[in-house]
Amino acid sequence: MQIVAKGLTYTYDAKSPFAAQALRGVDLTIDEGEFFGIIGHTGSGKSTFVQHLNALIRLTGGSLQVGEFDLADKKCDLRALRRRVGMVFQYPEYQLFAETVEKDVEFGLKNFQKELSDADRASAVAEALETVGLDYESVRGQSPFELSGGQKRRVAIAGVIVTKPEVLILDEPAAGLDPLGKKELMELLHAIHGGWCKTVVVVSHDMDEIAENCTRAAVFEKGKVAMCGAPADIFRRADELAEMGLDVPVTARCARILRERGIDVDTNFTCDDFARKVIALWEKGGEGRAQ
Ligand SMILES: Nc1ncnc2c1ncn2[C@@H]1O[C@H](COP(=O)(O)OP(=O)(O)OP(=O)(O)O)[C@@H](O)[C@H]1O
Ligand SMILES: [Mg+2]
Repeated sequence: MQIVAKGLTYTYDAKSPFAAQALRGVDLTIDEGEFFGIIGHTGSGKSTFVQHLNALIRLTGGSLQVGEFDLADKKCDLRALRRRVGMVFQYPEYQLFAETVEKDVEFGLKNFQKELSDADRASAVAEALETVGLDYESVRGQSPFELSGGQKRRVAIAGVIVTKPEVLILDEPAAGLDPLGKKELMELLHAIHGGWCKTVVVVSHDMDEIAENCTRAAVFEKGKVAMCGAPADIFRRADELAEMGLDVPVTARCARILRERGIDVDTNFTCDDFARKVIALWEKGGEGRAQ
């Protein structure tokens, strides 16, 4: 499903003295098949935007088309939309509620796929838990509150992917995880992307994560899209990003230091690519080694 937003605006508490304009005309297209990143300073409208994509926030200004769903249409079938567009909130583990892991994960299924038999439901829950790296038999009867922080997050993600949404949106999915937890989470997202999950949209503060994982990204600033493109093209614009209070990946900072010393490494800012190109330059000798 392609996502096309045009002139999207949104104001919280619009009719009160506390009105906060969160989106000021977002134009953005995310194609089916992308692993799309959304970055931007705190308060730039990222969460407000992604919550429009499965109508957790109803459209009030502009237009939004998600596949065949026209979100401006009052008759839009929101249940059908939410079954196909899954949303993992920031710190989703705070939304675990059931007495057992199994009951928590199957909640979405009971809501969206009422027709499933008990056996089919159990096997879908088992598959979702295995997908997030948890052993169904050993965790199904446990209270989600007894699990570690990382395991709780996995259970929460399992509760969303159990319905196999075609579009999976995650708001800061790796926030608060240690480096290994972050790496495993990204591997998990890549493992499901390209199968039943056709499109992944991640909101992130971590520029390295965006550079390493995304096909394209959008930079939000003050409720609008300030840049959109391949991560390499975005991270070459380090000065503009700095003006928006944003950093660049470690590799982009290294490339910049090299450039200041007269060595121009054309890199796509992933660690592997950066290391390969710097080593190639080193092995070639000459200008690289002389500096
Ligand atoms: N529930 C709310 N009520 C009132 N104002 C809100 C609410 N949620 C967000 N806002 C305001 O809307 C603007 C955009 O917020 P949003 O949460 O979309 O930004 P964000 O880019 O996700 O920020 P962060 O990086 O901190 O998560 C901010 O000015 C924020 O204060
Ligand atoms: Mg947010």
